[in-house]
Amino acid sequence: MGFNVLFLNKIATAHQFSCFFLPIPSHRIYYLRRLMKEIVVSGIRPTGFLHLGNYFGALRNYVRMQEAYNCYFFVADWHSLTTHLDTSGLQASVHRVLAENIACGLDPDKVALYVQSDVPEIAELYLYLNMLAYKGELEKTPTFKDKVRMQPDNVNAGLLTYPVLMAADILIHRAVKVPVGKDQEQHLEMARNFATRFNNRYGEVLPLPQAFNFGNELVKIMGLDGMGKMSKSENANATLYLADEDELIRKKIMKAKTDSGPTEPNSAKPDYIQNLFTLMQLVSVPAVVEKFETDFNNCSIRYGDMKKQLAEDMALFMKPIREKAQAIQNDKAYLSKIIRQGADKARASAAETLQLVRKAVGVNYV
Ligand code: ADP
Ligand code: TRP
Repeated sequence: MGFNVLFLNKIATAHQFSCFFLPIPSHRIYYLRRLMKEIVVSGIRPTGFLHLGNYFGALRNYVRMQEAYNCYFFVADWHSLTTHLDTSGLQASVHRVLAENIACGLDPDKVALYVQSDVPEIAELYLYLNMLAYKGELEKTPTFKDKVRMQPDNVNAGLLTYPVLMAADILIHRAVKVPVGKDQEQHLEMARNFATRFNNRYGEVLPLPQAFNFGNELVKIMGLDGMGKMSKSENANATLYLADEDELIRKKIMKAKTDSGPTEPNSAKPDYIQNLFTLMQLVSVPAVVEKFETDFNNCSIRYGDMKKQLAEDMALFMKPIREKAQAIQNDKAYLSKIIRQGADKARASAAETLQLVRKAVGVNYV
């Protein structure tokens, strides 16, 4: 792999500096460059409206990665079936997630933006990986335990093998970086375990993927009530959705949990206060953040003022995303084009991996 990259780099550099001697057509150079970029995969389930946690934990990184990496971003519709059996709103939800991804700055011409169920190769890899995943480890996964608690009447096998399907999503493109929020760390570790087991049994085919965030630390945006994380399907009043109108944004932020303020200079911030600062860092200019940091540190902070400022800046930040997402959702022809184009790109990459996987496993008979 290292050798390949070096070799391709030489070709590209040689082309740049001496194209008279090496007449490589430019579309080939584009293809070689794509090969040289690191591969990135990430997915979001179509289980409701996207929120600031999704934006901060995932989408913002997607947008920043789209130039320098070879990116595969998808809507994880199969994953949503593990918890959301009612599919009556699924199409609208898939369209909305795609529209919101694009509205946040993702360019479907630069990345492969697709729907998971359009890539059947993932299901086949999932099958092979299931033979290498053990019941005990799957039952111990914290997200599985949480979901069993939340839906005790529907503890289905898909829920148990959720991390295996997620590993297949990633390994099908042989991705090395996975931009996700902190809640997905454990799933990434499991993906590495399954890939290692596969490689040990059948030979080196699958690279080991790592969770990724530009700030290095994976993020978790808490709900505005200070309880749990912002989420698509729970905690609606404490979650800021990208589709929320200005007035609702203000209302939710003004109700955010605070306290009577610090009594000692330079105290540590309680996590619900840190969360407000984190949100402010996302949407306000640095001078505003600094002012409230200083006020906090010298115990003169007025949380009412801080929330008012945050609400105004947040409403300004979210308005163009909301309006653009709405326009894209109304353009069904454009969405269909994007879905088809994404599926073609994703299947081309998936088919390549699957060929290697089948050969390694020994299921090629002609
Ligand atoms: P949700 O949990 O809201 O249903 P998903 O499970 O589809 O959202 O998550 C999609 C992406 O958004 C994942 O990368 C996940 O880590 C990230 N994410 C979700 N909620 C948060 C949050 N509150 N803070 C940070 N990242 C989050
Ligand atoms: N499990 C992720 C979540 O709940 C969504 C997801 C499915 C995903 N497959 C993935 C994320 C592959 C990254 C890579 O948020």
